[in-house]
Amino acid sequence: MSIALPPPPPLVDVTALRFAAPGTGRLIRRPGPQILNGMSFRVARGEMLGVVGESGCGKSTLGRLLAGLDRPTAGHVTVGGDDPAPRGRRAYRQSRARLQYVFQDPMSALNPRLTIGYQIAEGLRAHGLAADPGRAALHWLERVGLSAAHAARYPHQLSGGQRQRVVIARALSVDPLFTVFDEPVSALDVSVQAQVLNLLAELRRELGLTGVFISHDLRVVRYVSDRIAVIYLGEIVEIGPADAVFHHPLHPYSRALIGALLSPAPGTARRSRLTGTPPDISAPPPGCRFHPRCPWAMDRCRVEAPAPRPAGDGRQVSCHLDRPPATDAARDRAPQHREVTA
Ligand SMILES: Nc1ncnc2c1ncn2[C@@H]1O[C@H](COP(=O)(O)OP(=O)(O)O)[C@@H](O)[C@H]1O
Ligand SMILES: [Mg+2]
Repeated sequence: MSIALPPPPPLVDVTALRFAAPGTGRLIRRPGPQILNGMSFRVARGEMLGVVGESGCGKSTLGRLLAGLDRPTAGHVTVGGDDPAPRGRRAYRQSRARLQYVFQDPMSALNPRLTIGYQIAEGLRAHGLAADPGRAALHWLERVGLSAAHAARYPHQLSGGQRQRVVIARALSVDPLFTVFDEPVSALDVSVQAQVLNLLAELRRELGLTGVFISHDLRVVRYVSDRIAVIYLGEIVEIGPADAVFHHPLHPYSRALIGALLSPAPGTARRSRLTGTPPDISAPPPGCRFHPRCPWAMDRCRVEAPAPRPAGDGRQVSCHLDRPPATDAARDRAPQHREVTA
């Protein structure tokens, strides 16, 4: 007889998360822009959540809140049941080892005056994680596809891809509970990007990493994620299993992101494209934030913000349409599409 166990609690729990940038002005403090506008989602242990959206939509802001580098203005984040940015120096220091952040630019993350080997060993030493941190550092260099010979080198003696491998080794060597990968391959040459992505996919499988993987490129996100959250102007417009979101996107913005990647085969209908530039996050449009760029916007979209709703196969979508038409051509033929009625 088997006993059904309750599902394990999610490692990361985010509820109605909001973040406003600090205000400006010395005498009269004007409030800063609302960068995250109420996000809720969970990340299970061993899961990688992809986060995708255009530049400036709030991806790094979200990453910083998850890693405890900033505090929410409203709402909650917990990682492993704890506040990722606990007050008190000791608690904060301990949480720093458990939460790691891999930035886009590895050069700025490394100390130019210290050897690679030393910088990897430093974290292990500081957190008492290896009997012989120097030796463990060599092991980690090999694990990320470098060799022991790299240990004595300085960051400027490595290529961009090698430096990012070092940063990845340093982050993962301390056995983090949760890691934010923030555009980790965006600064690398295309050929090197694929190699580093392969490495991340491999390490993920071997180590059972939990984290978020941020990129403006949906193909990159899809490659290393179990689920994908599509962000538009500080809100999640669609979240669900990576393959479902990639192959059958439901939100018009997700469709436009994918449409931008694929060139239509000859003779097939033109795919949905993204037009216009993203509006300023400090002055978001009323109603659905995407409506000024949405080919299917209806009157309702201009006044009423859609709430997230379940859309089958573990997906949530924030859109008033029950399903966008198949193509732009279909929209031209049949402008009346069904609305979701609450
Ligand atoms: N401290 C801040 N003050 C004012 N605006 C900010 C601040 N931090 C971020 N922003 C703005 O918030 C938006 C989202 O930033 P970010 O999270 O870095 O986006 P992404 O990583 O998706 O490119 C950007 O338009 C950025 O200019
Ligand atoms: Mg960013």
